[in-house]
Amino acid sequence: MRQLKLIGIGTGNPDHITVQAINALKQADVVFLTDKGAQTAELLAARREICRRYADPRACRMVEIEDPQRDRGPGDYLQAVGGWHRQRAQRYEQLLQEHLSEDACGAFLIWGDPGLYDSTLRIVQEVAARQAVPFEYEVIPGISSLQALCARHRIALNQVGQPLQITTGRRLKAGMPATDTVVMLDGECAFTTLADPDLDIYWGACLGLPGEILLAGPLNELSGEIQQRRERARSQRGWIMDTYLLRRRPGP
Ligand SMILES: C[S@@+](CC[C@H](N)C(=O)[O-])C[C@H]1O[C@@H](n2cnc3c(N)ncnc32)[C@H](O)[C@@H]1O
Repeated sequence: MRQLKLIGIGTGNPDHITVQAINALKQADVVFLTDKGAQTAELLAARREICRRYADPRACRMVEIEDPQRDRGPGDYLQAVGGWHRQRAQRYEQLLQEHLSEDACGAFLIWGDPGLYDSTLRIVQEVAARQAVPFEYEVIPGISSLQALCARHRIALNQVGQPLQITTGRRLKAGMPATDTVVMLDGECAFTTLADPDLDIYWGACLGLPGEILLAGPLNELSGEIQQRRERARSQRGWIMDTYLLRRRPGP
């Protein structure tokens, strides 16, 4: 039976990879690397560096997968993502047929942790459900951007006994939740829409990568600076990924 390993690789720092991930990578006959285009070549290079360090070069072949473009227009977001997932499922099924013989082991390197805002697991489950290519799969956890964020700011993710929400920039625009909130996938600086003077922000961009940026303090004082630093880094690198924690200061 074909084996698939969905390996969380952390968010850019090759030292963040776990021993479990290294062992899984060593078993791989084929590593599938997602290529999201020239602008994000740095992210592909980080994946290649992990293979160079930890995969067995005599046994392992690398296959780059070009990711289909997603419709990012103003239409129905869930419908657009659903269509994009189906396209990717067809592509992955084809890849497994072409590159993985029946007793071989393949690996997908997944940015951060496979369970957090990543579609690979859902797509692999869709491919399995189609039953055209039989395989077994295993998920190997990785250090996510929110763990990297907290470690770099030297803060605990939650306050004692308190809940926490993880959301997207798109959802934050509807308002700040009552709890501490981690925001991911925010291409439009949704934090600038919040007027609450009691919010602190712990912000990190390109965590784990050269040129990482960290800023922390009252949101109303840092909002403009974060926007500027974000835009400057984006124009220098051609891409930017940032994550932040919003925490309400306790009253007197
Ligand atoms: C598609 S999600 C992938 C999340 C990933 N699976 C994880 O565990 O962190 C992409 C989002 O993760 C966050 N992210 C990923 N890598 C990051 C990094 N190196 N620095 C800051 N944020 C990052 C950003 O919010 C980005 O928009």
